[in-house]
Amino acid sequence: MEKDFINFHKPLVTDDEIKEVVDTIRSGWWTTGPKTIQFEKEFNSYIGSNYSLSVSSWTAAAHLALEAVGLQDGDEVIVPSMTFTATAEIVCYFGAKPVIVDVQKKSLNIDPQEIEKAITKKTKAIIPVHFGGNPCDMKEIIEIANQYNLKIIEDAAHALPAWYNDKLIGTIGDVTCFSFYVTKTLATGEGGMICTNNYEIAERCSIMRLHGINKDAWKRYSTEGSWYYEVVAPGYKYNFTDVQAALGLAQLRKIDFMLNERKKIFEKYNEIFSQNEQIQLYNYEKDRKPSYHLYPIFLNIEQLKITRAQFIDELKKLGIGASVHFIPLYRHPYYKNTFGLEEKNFPISEYLYPRIITLPIWPGMTDSQIYRVAESVNALSMKYKK
Ligand SMILES: Cc1ncc(COP(=O)(O)O)c(C=O)c1O
Repeated sequence: MEKDFINFHKPLVTDDEIKEVVDTIRSGWWTTGPKTIQFEKEFNSYIGSNYSLSVSSWTAAAHLALEAVGLQDGDEVIVPSMTFTATAEIVCYFGAKPVIVDVQKKSLNIDPQEIEKAITKKTKAIIPVHFGGNPCDMKEIIEIANQYNLKIIEDAAHALPAWYNDKLIGTIGDVTCFSFYVTKTLATGEGGMICTNNYEIAERCSIMRLHGINKDAWKRYSTEGSWYYEVVAPGYKYNFTDVQAALGLAQLRKIDFMLNERKKIFEKYNEIFSQNEQIQLYNYEKDRKPSYHLYPIFLNIEQLKITRAQFIDELKKLGIGASVHFIPLYRHPYYKNTFGLEEKNFPISEYLYPRIITLPIWPGMTDSQIYRVAESVNALSMKYKK
């Protein structure tokens, strides 16, 4: 890429991250160790959940969460259409069926009315995705879950930190899963966290994230020595490392600063786009505090001579990296063919998908980069206006 290319995302790196990582490398604790424990503790006290368990990714977190709530072959789990494949693929790991439903036009979040329509005797859980860190309609979703006895596993890959009615995401559903993938609001390269207030779920996830080893056995049989462990289930190798935790600790210290930076960029973009009639903006709900993970715009394609794909190409020629969140799940060959899905059954997603573009929004963007992105979008909107 050319030197002044504005990437879609770039993690904020300061001396703090470098110092923590070097310190970890020198310590010799390269895998799960004291920094992982410290990161879990600090994360847990930030979120205010009873338990926080670090793992290798969001995907690992949600896989363990579904295992812990007892998902089985033949069960169904309701997921939104506008999300990444991970949200649905973890359901398939169990031979269960992800039931993909349409989203709300205003938020791109799962529509509670669509959830209710999709419930069958086989439904076991709902995975609401807080799109761009904009909290879903949790009150309505909890009411439905209570009525039909369903578990709520929140996909908070974008929602760190975000608040719903003054409650931090991570303290609401049965389980909440976060992602620390490099583009996320707190990045450790790869990584994830499971938050829950439920002891049984935490206990099961804790055992399954590392080969099904029951650590309590160490305490019970401590006379056997520190080499002793017991395997109580065929678990997974999903543990977090101290090198990741080093990055996590440094990033956690500036979590509020990074949120504020994204909010400022969001507001600047909104201001610069206020007169642009070729695009529609994404509105966050007033009763929620989002994480501002994404900055989506929606092209008024009827008024433009180019498509969304061409618009993204033109942005690239101007040195700007943009993305699309998301290609709706039912459009991917696997979900389409396996579950016989038809585009016409997802009218809101079909309306949104050809219009949406997500623009760079990351702490560390300079004012001139923010203006260059926004002014390029405005210039292209004028250039290709019908
Ligand atoms: C909504 C959503 N859910 C889940 C994931 C998966 O996260 P991870 O890469 O940590 O497994 C992503 C990652 O991009 C995502 O955007």
